[in-house]
Amino acid sequence: MGSLTVRNLSEDVKRRLRLRAAANGRSMEEEIRLLLAEGTAEVVARPSAAKTNAPARSETPARQILLIIAGGIAAYKSLDLIRRLRERGIGVRVVMTRAAQEFVTPMAVGAIAGEKPFTDLFDQHSEFDVGHIRLARDNDLVVVAPATADLMARMANGHADDLATAVLLATDKPILLAPAMNPRMWTNKATQRNLKTLIGDGVLSVGPNAGEMAESGEAGLGRMAEPLEIVAAIEQLLADRQDRADKPLAGKRILITAGPTHEPIDPVRYIANRSSGKQGFAIARAAAAAGAAVTLVAGPVTLPDPPGVKTVRVESARDMLGAVQAALPADVGIFAAAVADWRTADEGVQKLKKGADGPPRLALVENPDILATVSKLKAKRPRLVVGFAAETENMIEHAKAKLKRKGCDWIVANDVSAAGGAMGGDDNAVHLISEAGVESWPSQSKDGVARQLVARVAAELTGEPR
Ligand code: C5P
Repeated sequence: MGSLTVRNLSEDVKRRLRLRAAANGRSMEEEIRLLLAEGTAEVVARPSAAKTNAPARSETPARQILLIIAGGIAAYKSLDLIRRLRERGIGVRVVMTRAAQEFVTPMAVGAIAGEKPFTDLFDQHSEFDVGHIRLARDNDLVVVAPATADLMARMANGHADDLATAVLLATDKPILLAPAMNPRMWTNKATQRNLKTLIGDGVLSVGPNAGEMAESGEAGLGRMAEPLEIVAAIEQLLADRQDRADKPLAGKRILITAGPTHEPIDPVRYIANRSSGKQGFAIARAAAAAGAAVTLVAGPVTLPDPPGVKTVRVESARDMLGAVQAALPADVGIFAAAVADWRTADEGVQKLKKGADGPPRLALVENPDILATVSKLKAKRPRLVVGFAAETENMIEHAKAKLKRKGCDWIVANDVSAAGGAMGGDDNAVHLISEAGVESWPSQSKDGVARQLVARVAAELTGEPR
C-alpha cells in the first residue's frame, strides 16, 4: 500500500482540508482517510467513466460556480461568460434548462466549459455520478444567466420540477441572478413581485441594463448585464465569501482568560500554580487570526502579548475578575486561566518573619469563581461561555459535573496528570463537553487545539453545519 504526503497538496486544498477537519472535529489525517474511503466506495460502485455520460473533471479549481442557463436569447452571452470565468481560473459547471437548449446547444456549452452540461433531473447517468444535491452544493456560488421571467417566477414559488429549479431549491450557496427579458415582461407587476420575493429570500442580482433588445424596435430595461459585469459581481461575491471563510469571527468580541493567578501572602511571597498560559494565549492568537476582537486577561506569565490582541495583565483572581467584568460585553468568553481557588485571608503588609513561634498559620478564603460568575450573569452573559477543566482522574465525569455546576455552555477537559504532560507542555489532548455530548479530539499541539476550538466557536456562532 502506498502512502500519501499531505505536504504535496496545493495550499488551497490543504487549507480546505484543514477547515473541514477542524469543523468535523477530526485530525487532517483522519479526514483524508474518511474522504478516501468515501471516494473509493463511490468509484468502485460506479460504472466506468466510458460507459456513462458523466462529465469528467481532472481537478476541481479553487473557486467553482454552478451556472444555470435559462431559455432566453441572451443565452448566447453565457458562452462568453463561461469563457471569461475560466480565464480567471474559476471553474464553471453548467446546468441548462430545456428552453436554454433551443438557444444554445449543450455541445457548444460543453466545449467552452470543458465538461458536458447537466440538463435532466432524471438523467440516470449524471444523477448517479453527481446527483442534483451535490450539483447544488459542490460550488461556491450559483449563477443564473440569463434568468428569465419564467424561471424567476418558478424560483419565487419554490418549484422543483426540472434540474435547474431543483438545484436552486436545494442549494445552500448564494444565488446570483442576471435577469434578461423583454422590458414589458421586466416591468410587469408579476415579475417585480417575484423579484421582491427573491430578494427577500436573500437572492442577489446583477442588471438588467437598459438598451436595445434582440427583437427589432424594442428597447428599455431588460438587457442582461454584460458578461464582464457579471464576472465582476461573481468575483466580488467570491472574494466576500473567502473573507468570511478566512475570518469567520469578524465582528465578534471574544474574551479569554489565561495563565495562573498569584495570591499574595506578603509583599514577597505568593500562592501560585504551574499553569504556563500557553493554551489560553494560543486561543487568543487563533481567535484574532479568525478576525475576532480579542481581549486576553492574563495572569503572571512570561509569554509576549499576542499581536493584534488587547492583553490585560493581572496578578490575583480578584484583579482577573475585575478585568473580565471591564471587558464585557463579549460574544464569547473562554476561561482557560488556572485561577487559584484560595487566597490568604489576611495579606501581610510586611514580610512575614521567621520567629520563635514556628511557621505562621495561613488562613485561606475562597476566591471568586470567575467562570461561574460570568456564566450566571443576566444582562452581560456572553452568548457562548467556555470553561476548562484540568483533571488528573475521571476526567469526563468530573468535567460534566463542572459544566452543570458552573453554568457554562462547553467545557474543554484535559488531562493534567504527570502522564498527560499538558501542564507546561506544548501538546494537549482534550475533550469538548457540552449538553450535546462529548467530542474527543486527537492529541495535538496547543495551537492545534486552539484552532479547532476557534473553528467550533465560529460554527456555533454562525449556526453553520460542522
Ligand atoms: O473549578 P475549577 O478550577 O476546576 O474550574 C476550572 C474552570 O473554571 C476553568 O475554566 C477556570 O478558568 C475557571 N475558574 C475561574 N475562576 C476560579 C476558578 C476556576 O474562572 N476561581
